[in-house]
Amino acid sequence: MSIPASPPAVDVLGRGPEPTFPPGFRWGAATAAYQVEGAAAEDGRTPSIWDTFSRTPGRVLQGHTGDVACDHYHRFREDVALMADLRLTSYRFSVSWPRVQPGGAGPVNAAGLDFYRRLVDELLAHDIEPWVTLYHWDLPQPLEDAGGWPARDTAGRFADYAALVADALGDRVRYWTTLNEPWCSAFLGYGSGVHAPGRTDGADAVRAGHHLMLGHGLAVAALRAARPDAEVGVTVNLYPVTPATDAPADRDAARRIDALANRFFLDPLLRGAYPADLLADLRRVTDFGHVRDGDLAVIASPLDLVGVNYYSRYVVAGPVDGVHRRSPSAWPGSEDVRFVSRGVPVTDMGWEIDAPGLVETLRRVHDEYTDLPLYVTENGSAFVDEVVDGRVDDAERLAYLDAHLRAAHATIEAGVPLRGYFAWSLMDNFEWAWGYTKRFGMIYVDYGSQARIPKSSGRWYAEVIRRNALPAQ
Ligand code: FCB
Repeated sequence: MSIPASPPAVDVLGRGPEPTFPPGFRWGAATAAYQVEGAAAEDGRTPSIWDTFSRTPGRVLQGHTGDVACDHYHRFREDVALMADLRLTSYRFSVSWPRVQPGGAGPVNAAGLDFYRRLVDELLAHDIEPWVTLYHWDLPQPLEDAGGWPARDTAGRFADYAALVADALGDRVRYWTTLNEPWCSAFLGYGSGVHAPGRTDGADAVRAGHHLMLGHGLAVAALRAARPDAEVGVTVNLYPVTPATDAPADRDAARRIDALANRFFLDPLLRGAYPADLLADLRRVTDFGHVRDGDLAVIASPLDLVGVNYYSRYVVAGPVDGVHRRSPSAWPGSEDVRFVSRGVPVTDMGWEIDAPGLVETLRRVHDEYTDLPLYVTENGSAFVDEVVDGRVDDAERLAYLDAHLRAAHATIEAGVPLRGYFAWSLMDNFEWAWGYTKRFGMIYVDYGSQARIPKSSGRWYAEVIRRNALPAQ
């Protein structure tokens, strides 16, 4: 009898091999402090820009706030037990700056730090690796009153805050993300104004982006000083940007949006320079006088990993004569670019579902920027969920997760050092300007009773983690 040289490509049912992930691949879920914690005024926490913004009429849908959210501050033990049921090996959460350093400068709030110590201990007791994000958008209000991220001083305040968190948690936390999605903080917070603090000035948005990255670079040094073997990274939200047609105007629109959305951050962080075409595009908005000698070297401080949040693709077209130029805008200097819908299926956010875009995005970071390990630090989908007989059968979210995990697997097969995946989100939560109207969780939250119900997607994810593999297809 001869022994086949390689296993058969398909089994008797016609299924191919199970896509299996490398040993040690990190399986996680992510949340952010303001979206889940609640306890907004407890144990010394003071307001952040999101507290102020959400209390301002008309800013957040239905006037929702994060005052209570998922009450995770009080229910974290139950939530960690649910994470263990999902078999997560990592949990990415953020620290609320105004909880641990009220006012954004000066002394620490020991009670606030104790909450994170308890949370980390609970995770470690369940063999779940804690992964801390230092800044997921909740700037202490006094720092905004002093100028916010457009003010250079905020970068220094952020480094001080990073140092105090690292001193408190560095003995038990090894994985750190400095900033979550600086594009959103800068361009939604100070450009379009749809996020806190709700300001609308293109030049301020560009300044904010720079000072966020400067704060990141300074924080890297603070983290390393506190914990020399720390694994430090930053999380950027990236999009493939595709021109609607091959017409020169559409291709130029794609170049401009790619510069603002992706290269504005990737180039300084990983190459130590702003792209020349971005500087030229923004000439009418700012002269970049806020960039000082030495800033870019700090911004490009060596990292240990890069976090990528991926949700969708942008398809864009050039201006059409007579089209209204949207202003205020998240795209300073490129307000006339049109975002085009391809008519493909979308999530409840209206975001096009595009799993191949994840492969494209991760390959680009690896091929064009860095050999560092990559992590998908967020990926997920909002859909309308219904509780039926105590169950939530979220088939669409499960399909989204399946498709994107297949894409993650294909990325690894293509030679990209993708080391982990964090689903957004562990549980339904406060979705920023959308309040509680959009559900992204693998666990359903009944906000009236605070009951949690693992959805079908969560159960499915637990099985993927158990097998370290996706089902054969
Ligand atoms: C990302 C945010 C995260 C969540 C998801 C849906 O931009 O980082 O907090 O809102 O989108």
